Amino acid sequence: MSPLNGRRVLVTGAAGRIGLATVEHLNELGARVTALTNVEHPDLKADRVLIGDTRSEPDVARALEGAEYVVHLAALAHPSAGTPYDVYAINVVSTFNVLAQAGALGIERAVIASSINATGIPFNPHEIKPAYFPWDEKAPADVGDPYSLSKQNDENTARMAWRRWGIDVVAFRFPHVNSAEVLQRLAGNARETPAAGLREAWSYLDTRDAAYSIELGLTAPASGAHTFFVAAGTTLAPYATEDLLDAFAPDVRRSRRFIGREVPIDLTAVRTVLGFQARHELDLPTLPLEL
Ligand SMILES: NC(=O)c1ccc[n+]([C@@H]2O[C@H](COP(=O)([O-])OP(=O)(O)OC[C@H]3O[C@@H](n4cnc5c(N)ncnc54)[C@H](O)[C@@H]3O)[C@@H](O)[C@H]2O)c1
Repeated sequence: MSPLNGRRVLVTGAAGRIGLATVEHLNELGARVTALTNVEHPDLKADRVLIGDTRSEPDVARALEGAEYVVHLAALAHPSAGTPYDVYAINVVSTFNVLAQAGALGIERAVIASSINATGIPFNPHEIKPAYFPWDEKAPADVGDPYSLSKQNDENTARMAWRRWGIDVVAFRFPHVNSAEVLQRLAGNARETPAAGLREAWSYLDTRDAAYSIELGLTAPASGAHTFFVAAGTTLAPYATEDLLDAFAPDVRRSRRFIGREVPIDLTAVRTVLGFQARHELDLPTLPLEL
């Protein structure tokens, strides 16, 4: 039986892509979910559904009543999802509000959605690449857009909340997360224009695996504030990773060789600390890369 069975979990952004899958997964584990969302959704089934705004102190206070765990996903999830002001302000105020209230209440564990964009690489307006491969959590960031800045700030907020209130926080640097059908389509794009995936290291994660990682983020024995890259173990490009890096990042240092379509992101931390391994990977051929 899951340790979440019968436990009360607040999920913000519950009507979103990752939120819906997370609520469904937590329901299956027997958790009693409070969903906080600013939009209704016919597929959202939870113990309590509250319509509210994660920036609002009273809305979050109401949603946290009785909560034992928090999953904070609400955000404008793309640089162009709002004005630069809204993307930054909604994201960082929401994360601060949720973690500060949860911490002050003595809640022991929260999971938040950071992003691969906390590195600043994918949306950077300049021609930059990850500093080295396998890309890991210690690689330098280079932020050039408000969404990435908001995610970098959210990771700082997590560290502050832990230092101040002792709330354990797991921040996931999700790559592109989507359904298997959409990921399969994106794999088709990567086959046509493989260079475009370099800034995200051709990484992806099935929505069901995002929900699974969140389960582990809530239950694995890990105290403190942690930031993890999390991704499928393979890329969504139907080419050998070594061929991709030879072609599109020959100037970037590689500290080891990659096997087949292995994603060139170091997943050691999420694997060893949380025990995460993706369960839903794309079944793609490995084709010769012809430029
Ligand atoms: N899906 C991805 O590929 C991906 C990748 C990296 C990180 N993330 C992060 O994961 C989280 C969830 O992403 P998603 O793909 O489910 O996004 P989504 O846009 O589908 O869902 C986000 C939800 O948050 C809600 N929301 C926004 N502002 C709110 C507010 N002020 N109050 C209450 N609710 C609010 C939105 O209405 C939406 O329902 C986000 O923080 C996002 O930045 C997503």
